[in-house]
Amino acid sequence: MGARLEREIRVFPDPTREAEAAARHLAARARVAVRARGRFSWVLAGGRTPEGLYRLLARRWRSRFPWEATEIFFGDERCVGRRDPESNYAMAREALLAHVPIPRHRIHRLRGELRPASRAAEEYARLIGPLPPAKASPRFDTVLLGLGPDGHTASLFPGAPAVRERTRTVVAVPRAGHPPWVPRLSLTLAALASSREVLFLVEGSEKADTVARVLRAAPRHSSNLPARMVRSAGPILWFLDRAAASRLPRAAIGPDLPSREERRPARG
Ligand code: 6PG
Repeated sequence: MGARLEREIRVFPDPTREAEAAARHLAARARVAVRARGRFSWVLAGGRTPEGLYRLLARRWRSRFPWEATEIFFGDERCVGRRDPESNYAMAREALLAHVPIPRHRIHRLRGELRPASRAAEEYARLIGPLPPAKASPRFDTVLLGLGPDGHTASLFPGAPAVRERTRTVVAVPRAGHPPWVPRLSLTLAALASSREVLFLVEGSEKADTVARVLRAAPRHSSNLPARMVRSAGPILWFLDRAAASRLPRAAIGPDLPSREERRPARG
């Protein structure tokens, strides 16, 4: 399966229902992956947006997710200690990983505390191993990503050399293009593309302009919008709340879940 750009946009009334749909989607994908290959290989996103999803999975989906067969990777990390409040690992651990029975040896942390950062990148690249050839089985089942207001994703910032990296799977990013202003570690586009699906989780009106630019950009403008350059061997799903989707033309939006959500018979 070569890398493709097959996109699907789903809009939800609010972040709560967006997170519920994402949890339901991930649990279903995890069950399919475990049935097919005995493992669900999931790349976590950092930043603030996924925290609600992680907490929901840890609580309401704890007993309905194949945690014992799940393997965790990180799409990027800040070059800080594992307990630093800015650490993506620290956020994911507090919101999810400390509360679910994923075997510890299957949680693979990017060691942001290592210096030079290139050493941590090389260590993680060895862990991931060489990317399978385009037609072979992708390295990851699901890559979860966020979107920065400048169009960055993971720690791939507009115009940065990391965006143009074609051979390495993990790179050190000396200069962040967005707060926190600390050096980063990031999977590259090549690594993200070795996936059965990519799931962007975006919410809030402050992202609406960027969502519209990314989802409507012509390929020639992609280099300024790294999120637009993301590919996968499978679908690229965009889960948006209404605020983040507010600048999209109606026609760009797939089955508008709010109508389906609103059609759902009232409980009780
Ligand atoms: C990071 C993330 C980054 C994030 C976006 C959106 O380390 O910051 O990997 O790519 O997903 O910046 O961040 P928010 O979800 O906080 O808006």
